[in-house]
Amino acid sequence: MNDPTNNRKIEHLRIVEQYPSIDREGRYFEDFQLRHRALPEIDLASVNTSTEFLGKNLSFPLIISSMTGGDHMLPQRINKNLATAAEKTQVAMAVGSQRVLFTHPNAINSFNLRQFAPSTVLCANIGAVQLNYGYNESHCQRAIDVLDADALYMHLNPLQEAIQPEGNTNFDGLVQKMASVASKLTRPVIIKEVGCGIGQIDAQLLFDHGFTFIDVAGAGGTSWGQIENYRRGKESGDSFINWGIPTPVLLQELEPLGSKMKIIASGGIRTGVDMAVAMILGASLCGIALPFLNAAKESEHKVVDKIQKLRKEFTITMFLLGITNVASLVGNRSLLLKEP
Ligand SMILES: Cc1cc2nc3c(=O)[nH]c(=O)nc-3n(C[C@H](O)[C@H](O)[C@H](O)COP(=O)(O)O)c2cc1C
Repeated sequence: MNDPTNNRKIEHLRIVEQYPSIDREGRYFEDFQLRHRALPEIDLASVNTSTEFLGKNLSFPLIISSMTGGDHMLPQRINKNLATAAEKTQVAMAVGSQRVLFTHPNAINSFNLRQFAPSTVLCANIGAVQLNYGYNESHCQRAIDVLDADALYMHLNPLQEAIQPEGNTNFDGLVQKMASVASKLTRPVIIKEVGCGIGQIDAQLLFDHGFTFIDVAGAGGTSWGQIENYRRGKESGDSFINWGIPTPVLLQELEPLGSKMKIIASGGIRTGVDMAVAMILGASLCGIALPFLNAAKESEHKVVDKIQKLRKEFTITMFLLGITNVASLVGNRSLLLKEP
């Protein structure tokens, strides 16, 4: 129980709860305005929000982004509530880093989620930098297998590792290793950041190494600079709390790669309107993490309520844009009134 990886995840949950300013609340999405239609010329009831992801049908383009797992009751409860709600509403869900599986085998109880989500998309998660610290394809395959996952998220978190006193900071030669490992796995790999973003240079590097799924996980929502700062009694100062590339800027930058790669938008998406903006900027799916945390601590019903609210907002946005299907939204810049 005293394993540092296991305890760190609990500390993160505690700090996020204690300091609401960790959420930058999607302020970069506010700069975009959409082209309202007074005459949408469609029936609200005809708006179809469904979409396909990893060969499965989702009720609307949402993935609950990676947050937690571990050998404690709290992450177990959170993941069970998230998975049950994801199944009920037919959205996708990703678990938090599964590194803890290898230091604390009982953590498997927090990742054994197919029983709660037999049909929807579930994604595994591992920190890419671990490949420079002894992890290999067998660790990644195990993360996939315990979850019976549809894909594996490999996360990139250089800021977090650099601030953490116990951080793993050797990112040298990583993309090559990531590509070699990914080619040996039974499921596709999605590369994500954790709130600082994957920009054009990194996306191109990933594409050149064979990756075709990117979750930009940009700045604007959860600030890892803040989390690690509070975790250490603010001893590193506030210099990195707003570090990172804003999520809408990333989506604009990655547009030229959109025809070759599947782009997932996340980092500061807080409403169904934000989701629509992200998709107009080229994303085919949207991820949201922190806003689900408190609901997931309470019950699956609270999570379902939050998902339904997002879906309603997303549906009304499509209606007000005069759009009846998700494909008409993706990359359709004519729906933007103002692009900063
Ligand atoms: C409490 C918490 C724990 C997280 N743990 C992980 C993790 O283990 N692995 C990961 O890839 N991302 C992790 N993230 C990052 C999220 O998946 C997401 O990329 C980031 O929070 C931005 O989304 P948001 O602004 O909607 O929160 C975590 C986020 C939060 C809030």
